[in-house]
Amino acid sequence: MVVTPWEVKGKVDYERLIREFGTQPLTEELLQRIAKYTGELHLQLRRKLFFSHRDLNVVLDLYEKGVKFVLYTGRGPSGPVHIGHLVPWIFTKHLQDRFETRLYFQMTDDEKFVVEDDLKLDEARNFGYENALDLIALGFQPENTFIIFDVKDIDLLYDIALEVAKRTTYSTARATFGFQDSTNIGWIFWPAIQAVPCFIHAKLTGENVPVLIPAAIDQDPYWRITRDIAPKLGYYKPAQIHCRFLPGLGRGGKMSASEPETSIFTIDPPDVVKEKIWNAFTGGRATVAEQRKMGGDSNMCTIFQYFAYLFEEDDMKLAERERKCKAGEILCGECKNELAERVNKFLAEHQRKREKARNIVEKFYIKR
Ligand code: TYM
Repeated sequence: MVVTPWEVKGKVDYERLIREFGTQPLTEELLQRIAKYTGELHLQLRRKLFFSHRDLNVVLDLYEKGVKFVLYTGRGPSGPVHIGHLVPWIFTKHLQDRFETRLYFQMTDDEKFVVEDDLKLDEARNFGYENALDLIALGFQPENTFIIFDVKDIDLLYDIALEVAKRTTYSTARATFGFQDSTNIGWIFWPAIQAVPCFIHAKLTGENVPVLIPAAIDQDPYWRITRDIAPKLGYYKPAQIHCRFLPGLGRGGKMSASEPETSIFTIDPPDVVKEKIWNAFTGGRATVAEQRKMGGDSNMCTIFQYFAYLFEEDDMKLAERERKCKAGEILCGECKNELAERVNKFLAEHQRKREKARNIVEKFYIKR
């Protein structure tokens, strides 16, 4: 298993990640504390898609004492957005609505430029703009959502990045990110930039409040470094809530833009979505007769996970689908057809909102 911000390989063992990264499991007690403010638990919490955290308890303790927090998350714009990226953003929107808080969203066109061999700076910037439309399509509002485009907004970031860089040794960065002699120096400095939005609210408003970062667990290495430095700069340690990866449509592995045939992009047309889903790896048997007799295996089925994590709100209906699958009462083709229909319905609406977002995207740009 390899899990870094730039690479996820092999079967991900999430319990092991909690141990190795030194994060905390998201306990029932914490979930109940969240539910006090959100009402019914969000699907992604109920179904344990979010599974780990750092200092969420501290953020909630402070919230109970009247200290608000701000949210921070982001995107490395190296191509179009896929529905895996939407997972933490949908959850972020939920937290923003329920806790009535600001979101700072970092678009790391600089990161993708230094990390991806063949990506030109203009291409990364343009993907940044296009990806921002996806964020806005999820319903975020310009009054409380501030998008930082790193290259355009570097004047806002550079002083804090220097403070962070000065306090991070090369050996720490190398041990955390696995840098090699062949790694370009842009990449080596870069983690200091991803740390900055943890503190940007304090810089812009003078209000020193904690930040909570919803993201998949691959981003955690950044926060290990940032958390060590935060108190030295007079800030709260940034808190995190980590989700698992939405799998790709193939056998094993996360949904990843580098494998387009097993990823569903938000701009995919309906026939492409249908075809990708039709070719997906499932927990089905080799023949219909075998499946009717022995049932399928929903635990290893990608299609079932898409229902569970995004496309079936109703817990009873999800349980019924699982039961029918295991009993051989439903075949993979039926699940695939139904999923394709739901994904396409969702995407039709998303694409409409995405186009409308072009008219308002500038309202979301962070101001000086
Ligand atoms: P990026 O563009 O790789 O990913 C954007 C967000 O999507 C999450 N993610 C996934 N979540 C569920 N299932 C998947 N298959 C999946 N693939 C990716 C990532 O964890 C991330 O939350 N360096 C960052 C950009 C960034 C950022 C941040 C992300 C800057 N500041 C703060 C999170 C929080 C990047 O390249 O993300």
